Amino acid sequence: MKILFIGDIVGKGGRETVRALAPGLRREYNCDFCIANAENVAGGSGMTKSCLQAVFDGEVDVCTSGDHVWDQKQFADEIESLPNVLRPANYPDSQPGKGYGVYVSESGANVAVLCLLGRTFMAVGAECPFAAAERIVPELRKITPIIIVDFHAEATSEKIALGRFLDGQVSAVLGTHTHVPTADQQLFPGGTAFQCDVGMVGARESVIGRDLQPVITRFRTGMPQRFTVAEKGIVLHGCVVSVTDNGKAKGIERVMRSLP
Ligand SMILES: [Fe+2]
Ligand SMILES: [Fe+2]
Repeated sequence: MKILFIGDIVGKGGRETVRALAPGLRREYNCDFCIANAENVAGGSGMTKSCLQAVFDGEVDVCTSGDHVWDQKQFADEIESLPNVLRPANYPDSQPGKGYGVYVSESGANVAVLCLLGRTFMAVGAECPFAAAERIVPELRKITPIIIVDFHAEATSEKIALGRFLDGQVSAVLGTHTHVPTADQQLFPGGTAFQCDVGMVGARESVIGRDLQPVITRFRTGMPQRFTVAEKGIVLHGCVVSVTDNGKAKGIERVMRSLP
């Protein structure tokens, strides 16, 4: 089977681009499952049920998230009614929502999705992602060998280390959070597909999805700025992973597409 995985969807431009392009990409690459990181879908920070609707309209099956998951206050109440939306699994159990789930693909195969958050150069508050994976992955493997991990983290080293740690145990470890796609897509020896970061659905003329000038000013002056979301020239970044019935990855291909 083939799985389309889309990077952090930023703001209205991002979600409308997913709505417009993702169904066609699913057909073009013959994918029967689609995952997208939606932590920036609401105004560039956080998620709401209504903003996620555009993403689900784009035939995305599961939305993952990351450190921005709770930026929209109302979402703590909304997530419980959204079984196809995941928060980081290594956040405390006391948080609403869940961090992994098993879903049925178009072809009828069970696909497990696990969302984990990194800790290097990131806000603290999450359990060790390695320990969380060590606990959760064997449970998921009792149900299905097809397991996709969204590792939402800053440091390439932490991402590669977790990918190598899980090689042979999951079908893919795909990075999100930096919004910049990396050129290191590969298959590890045990059969796990890996890419440090799949990128974002956001504006090319931007600093990771935000308008240029406030970000440059902030870096130059250290003064607080309002980081507006850049809306023009949106590019969709993601990847397509091919997985055998026994959960081994046999291919990973980067995808980059923009609206005509
Ligand atoms: Fe993000
Ligand atoms: Fe993030």
